[in-house]
Amino acid sequence: MTATIIDGLSYANKIINNIKYEVNKLKVKPKLVVILVGNDNASQIYVKNKQKRCLEVGIESEVLHFDEKIKQDKLLDIIKQLNEDIRVNAILVQMPLPSHINSNLIIETISPLKDVDGFHPYNVGKLALNMTPYSVACTPCGILKLLNAYNIEIKGKHVVIIGRSNIVGRPLALLLLNNDATVTVCHSKTENLKQITQTADILISAIGKAHLINSTFIKENAVIIDVGINRDKNNKLTGDVDFNDVFEKCNFITPVPKGVGPMTIAMLLQNTLDLYKTQNNI
Ligand code: GUN
Repeated sequence: MTATIIDGLSYANKIINNIKYEVNKLKVKPKLVVILVGNDNASQIYVKNKQKRCLEVGIESEVLHFDEKIKQDKLLDIIKQLNEDIRVNAILVQMPLPSHINSNLIIETISPLKDVDGFHPYNVGKLALNMTPYSVACTPCGILKLLNAYNIEIKGKHVVIIGRSNIVGRPLALLLLNNDATVTVCHSKTENLKQITQTADILISAIGKAHLINSTFIKENAVIIDVGINRDKNNKLTGDVDFNDVFEKCNFITPVPKGVGPMTIAMLLQNTLDLYKTQNNI
């Protein structure tokens, strides 16, 4: 038996088309402001991609690019201005930030109503309590949408997440718990990782280590979700999972690229539109 490849790119395009249709009907277009600090190559590529997708669907986007030496207070002032600006519906501060800037303070300063990443403690707290946040982190949202799109049962299933970041692992654990999964979160200090992953009905890897997960880590017929974006020794984009090795053993698998990545951007556009609607009582 071979696995079904979960086509994240096609599904993301479908969602993006729906967003385009909805945005087209709006007189005043939603607006996203992205704050980029410094010259990190990967961050610049991500931000360009986000801008391109916004343009495609008719969401207005503005990138504010600052020198890596920008003072924290200046950045805080800019965020406060954006919070007050009624033309701005969504604010994204691209992570990581330079080490002299307190990322938590930056995130806490963004209005929860404009927090397109779902990183603000207000929104994470609502998620933790299974209440309704204004937004939920884009990658976890995208993963949930993909599981639903492929009719993969979550209720009662053992989901093992590798990685406990604020961007993926933690919000994903909460989201899946809210969907009645039994969730285990593994991380760099976890002992006996392999024994745990072998019990996963759904294994989600978000650690950033190329090809760490091979067939010995997984249960027969498991669902494998690969959030890793790594470069292998030939500089080729690759996930955390050894795709060819697990392919015969698993039931479903997301490829890298064209798996989870496109869904993250689709969810960013969806969150922007949803925040716009909330702010305008639509
Ligand atoms: N850096 C890597 N992923 C993300 C993301 O989803 N949002 C932000 N703001 N920064 C990131």
